[in-house]
Amino acid sequence: LINGILREWNGPVSDVFSPIRYRGSSEKIKLGTYPLLSGKDALEILDSAHKAYNYGHGEWPSMTTAQRIDVVSKFVNKLKEKRDEIIELIMWEICKTQKDSQKEVDRTIEYVEKTVEALKSLENKDNAFIEDGGTVAQIRRRALGVVLCSGPFNYPFNETYATLIPALIMGNTVVMKLPRVGVLCHVPTFEIFRDVFPKGVVNVLPGTGRETLPPIMASGKIDCFAFIGSTNAADALVKAHPAPHKLRMCLGLEAKNPAIILPDADLDVAVSECVLGSLSYNGQRCTAIKVIFVHESIAKPFLDKFATSVDSMKLGVPWMKDVKITPLPEENKPNYIHQLMDDAIAKGAKIVNPKGGKFDRTLITPPILFPCNEHMRVMQEEQFGPLVPVASFSSISEVEEYFHKSKYGQQAAIFGKDPKELSRLIDSLTYQVARVNINTQCQRGPDVFPFTGRKDSSIGTLSINDALRVFSIRVMVATAET
Ligand code: G3H
Repeated sequence: LINGILREWNGPVSDVFSPIRYRGSSEKIKLGTYPLLSGKDALEILDSAHKAYNYGHGEWPSMTTAQRIDVVSKFVNKLKEKRDEIIELIMWEICKTQKDSQKEVDRTIEYVEKTVEALKSLENKDNAFIEDGGTVAQIRRRALGVVLCSGPFNYPFNETYATLIPALIMGNTVVMKLPRVGVLCHVPTFEIFRDVFPKGVVNVLPGTGRETLPPIMASGKIDCFAFIGSTNAADALVKAHPAPHKLRMCLGLEAKNPAIILPDADLDVAVSECVLGSLSYNGQRCTAIKVIFVHESIAKPFLDKFATSVDSMKLGVPWMKDVKITPLPEENKPNYIHQLMDDAIAKGAKIVNPKGGKFDRTLITPPILFPCNEHMRVMQEEQFGPLVPVASFSSISEVEEYFHKSKYGQQAAIFGKDPKELSRLIDSLTYQVARVNINTQCQRGPDVFPFTGRKDSSIGTLSINDALRVFSIRVMVATAET
């Protein structure tokens, strides 16, 4: 979709295969193809977004907020008609369970609707006059210009829209980079974008990020870079920009969120939240619990219960009833998970759940590794997959030390009861991470809550309210009072 036209593509394509195979068959199931655009094509797409923006004089940025709200509301109403189709594609392509795929799409629809409401109230707050010392000014909120939005494979629909929709509704035009994995769920939306938005406002960029994004960054012609994905990819892209220090960015990157199980924790709560937190969607969430620290006095009972729960998780395809663990969409991921597991075992950890660590192509029974220590790769790297490192501690200062040394700073979860200890830890950890969860797992939602991170985990804050500010600027018209 470029400049309002859904173009025919005669160039090279990449096949999209499902991680699922039919029973007893090793044959891949082809779901579709996507165009492999070149850097030159990407620049043409960028140009279309610029023409539509036209220095703020384009049809879209010139509309009133009420007019843009009207367009986005039409868009979301039509999107609802495609709900089931999008869910089906998410299940087949990235193997998210049916329940989670439904949640991803419904949550996105709700996100769009609530963004509209949030904008109405932001308008009321922002359109104000201020006065001081004889100078009076009127505040207005303006678009930034052209925004490059790129989402990840694990929330291909939701986390593309998490930046796309606020960027659009604030009057920006966008280049919407589709995730390489999780690309097909966007196909049902292209005609809606074409029919509802003025031409050139939404331009869709398929292809590999490696090929298409560096030329866009190197052109220096984007006003904001909105990216959710790996830290390495973001680093490389930001460096490609001619003035990286001046680039306005909103980045949702990697994390290594610890759970801390204190001696007085309710073990049933800790176990069920750690299972959900570490292994929902196979651990492929930036907010997943990626390491567990358990006090040595309760390590054994915690591990026994945790191992039993993890081993009872049902493996299978997304639409199976009560399925929890599904095939991974990235073909090379099992190899990486195996490397982390082998490294930890070589350095003294064991797989403590009897069923853990069995690999059937990309379907993995999650291994729980214990006892883990800081020399193991799995304690430092973001595994983004189904394996859970557990370390024991005798003094909480050992755990705090881990936070101090970590390059990540998104969230933590603490399980315990003593209000004094909880309060002391909250004080300490809120200087290390952006969200501390008490007796509950780490997560992004509810989507009205600010979602951000410290250190290498994030730049900027996303949420239904915050994202509107990220993709706009408050300007003012000032004069001397007469
Ligand atoms: O993968 C990163 C997502 O922001 C996680 O979102 O906590 O709602 O699953 P979630």
